[in-house]
Amino acid sequence: MPIGLEHEIVDSDTYKRTVEWFRGKNIRLPKISQLADPTGISQDLRDELIGVDPDSPDPRNLFRVHWHNDASRSQFASVPEHIVLPSELTGVDARIIVVLGNRFPMIKAHKVLAAYGCLVPRLLSGMFDPTRHRAVWPSTGNYCRGGVAISRILDCRSVAVLPEGMSEERFGWLQNWVTDPSDIVRTFGTESNVKEIYDACHELEKDPDNVILNQFKEFGNYVIHRTVTGPALEKVFGFVNKNKQLSARAFVSASGSAGTLAAGDYLKSVLGTDNCVVEALECPTLLFNGYGEHNIQGIGDKHVPFIHNVLNTDFAVGVSDAATDSLNLLFNSEVGQAYLSKRAEVDAQTLEDLTNLGLSSIANVLGAIKYAKYMDLGTSDAVLTVATDGSEMYRTELDKTVSRRFSGQFDELSAAEVFGRYLLGATIDYTVETNRFDRQRMFNLGYYTWVEQQGVSVEEFDARRDPGFWDALMDVVPQWDAMIEDFNARVTTETA
Ligand SMILES: Cc1ncc(COP(=O)(O)O)c(C=O)c1O
Repeated sequence: MPIGLEHEIVDSDTYKRTVEWFRGKNIRLPKISQLADPTGISQDLRDELIGVDPDSPDPRNLFRVHWHNDASRSQFASVPEHIVLPSELTGVDARIIVVLGNRFPMIKAHKVLAAYGCLVPRLLSGMFDPTRHRAVWPSTGNYCRGGVAISRILDCRSVAVLPEGMSEERFGWLQNWVTDPSDIVRTFGTESNVKEIYDACHELEKDPDNVILNQFKEFGNYVIHRTVTGPALEKVFGFVNKNKQLSARAFVSASGSAGTLAAGDYLKSVLGTDNCVVEALECPTLLFNGYGEHNIQGIGDKHVPFIHNVLNTDFAVGVSDAATDSLNLLFNSEVGQAYLSKRAEVDAQTLEDLTNLGLSSIANVLGAIKYAKYMDLGTSDAVLTVATDGSEMYRTELDKTVSRRFSGQFDELSAAEVFGRYLLGATIDYTVETNRFDRQRMFNLGYYTWVEQQGVSVEEFDARRDPGFWDALMDVVPQWDAMIEDFNARVTTETA
């Protein structure tokens, strides 16, 4: 059985200990279906949640690990929070719809959902013992924060593994949340040094008390995004498309672990959208088998994640970190906002909304613009994408960008250059509409990571060529939900 898809109790002693542990701490697990549609969460619990700080390690915050939190994050929103970018800003007629990840609890990024998806099968099968094990979360910064947050709720030890070059905001958050500073493992390099993260995990794995929850490989990450993120985006599209005049054309997402891209597999099946994967031009792994350094934090590369259904990819789009760094500055500086307001006539609400976009979110928007231009989309078309996190995770990047890219001064002229060059002037360069050959090439590239380096068998690797393999993964969802119900009942009724 592929890792992370356990759906029966493997170790009943550990399972019983876990139930007792949860009972002692009054923790309940949300069902996957409740995260997909939080109307399934009882009104009593929703009322209770209003008084719970969304940024505290309160077990009830597990019931906020979904897209339906409102802007205050204290109550649920009937439609996930989103923005529809105006064409004055994007330069294209198509509607670009961005669903906001900074409404998620504790880490203000949707990666806490992936962490839940990877941990829950271990808990339900008795393969993770919160009384003894340390949960190890390999990441480029947000997944490990999500994992540490959930570990704090469970009151178990955890280890965040991330490259040393990630944003200061990520490290600041981690320092406040880990129980011991040695639980932050800084690996060499930046964003594109995922191999070094794996190496650190192999070292940690030598200690049998460490359980590695490898988001790049564990299908729980795929399953939860396809089940939870996909329908959230569908709901947003339905809301924006009240008048039934729009056609959803694509789902665009930059790939880190490729978990989010699983939402595209869902959307393709219900709305017929194209799947577009964005990657940094400075490290064009899918586009050119390339390598390099970049600053689009969160999209680790130089590898093809095991859980990436690459053969279902319709477009690969390269976006430069020069664009994302510069637009981050344009959207989050006084001079940039004044320029957008005065010269580009961007309205005040949109200006405020833009602060919900972190670096990879800006990359997603640029990917959506490039797709819209390539496909010559018009006013009746929509492109869906996500903002994994918001600009609050990158405040310290602003000064760095001013000195690195604008010789220490970002003025109105610079703002005009950035707007003209990176938004209005976005072209269809580095946009590949994949044919069968391109897809096979991308798929085959994964062999070197997974079979040669990481010990996956060729059979397991090749099994993922079959589209039916990916659909069959979804069978675990009702099984997990039934197991969660049973688990919660045991926690509640003390009959473990
Ligand atoms: C800020 C940010 N953007 C994008 C991604 C990529 O998401 P995924 O891992 O689901 O591909 C991540 C992943 O950690 C991230 O932290």
